[in-house]
Amino acid sequence: MRHLMSPLDLSVDELDELLNLANDIEKHPEKYAHACDGKKLATCFYEPSTRTRLSFEAAMLNLGGSVLGFASADSSSAAKGESVSDTIRIISCYADICAMRHPKEGAPLVASQKSQIPVINAGDGGHQHPTQTLTDLLTIRSLKGRLDNMTIGLCGDLKFGRTVHSLINALIRYPGIRFVLISPEELKIPSYIREDVLKAKQIPFTEVERLEDAIPELDVLYMNRVQKERFFNEEDYVRLKDFYILTREKLSLAREDMLVLHPLPRVNEISVEVDDDPRAVYFKQAQYGVYVRMALILTLLGISVE
Ligand code: NCD
Repeated sequence: MRHLMSPLDLSVDELDELLNLANDIEKHPEKYAHACDGKKLATCFYEPSTRTRLSFEAAMLNLGGSVLGFASADSSSAAKGESVSDTIRIISCYADICAMRHPKEGAPLVASQKSQIPVINAGDGGHQHPTQTLTDLLTIRSLKGRLDNMTIGLCGDLKFGRTVHSLINALIRYPGIRFVLISPEELKIPSYIREDVLKAKQIPFTEVERLEDAIPELDVLYMNRVQKERFFNEEDYVRLKDFYILTREKLSLAREDMLVLHPLPRVNEISVEVDDDPRAVYFKQAQYGVYVRMALILTLLGISVE
């Protein structure tokens, strides 16, 4: 039985296969419409979500399966003090696969150790968000035709942004990847990524504060929101929340073929006037999230469709 805690749980070849499957699902959805007949997905979400939870549910429904679950900690027995280990033992009797989001780093991993069914980490605190990364990789590969030899700008809350951490981990396995880390001093990438991942693997990167300085050289600009829920005090959040706003004017400094990605939700960091620019692909990215989660469910359940 396999779980997905980090994008690194899949080898580069397995990842390639999964992205190919997602592309095939996009082209021929009817082929897959009954692949999961009779199967159930549980979504156990202890933290807010729109896209991740609903795209998981849409993915399972598109495959002919059904879904059950809860959307907040206070509507589950967590509110009574139940541990994730006990909860997953129970869910294992009700469903065939589980997607879990939790505010505590490592909670889905703890659950996976007691689970009888595959567990997918749907975001654990400020740590990792592997299925967002699968979505990001599918978006970049489908629209750029490759995942190697690129300069990727990551802009915003690089400290708490779990999607950024997972994306870096996944992309460093491809040759010719270079990062430009764009953040205010307080929201710089954690040292367990800078030292233990980027420096240890000798991946070229620079750290800058001004988006305008970095944007002209980028193939992909990955923005994220300042992660309000991970701040210890409101004042710091208010001071930093509008540090970056991508406007049409700033985008005019970028290459014609640069892509703008964002895991969403957006708050203020991308002005709505940018949405109509062909380089803005974040809504398309959310659609890719359904195909890639369909591919992941099939892969973890060991179901193949001829
Ligand atoms: C992200 C998350 O939950 O980490 N959202 C998502 O799943 N698309 C990004 C965020 O909340 O900022």
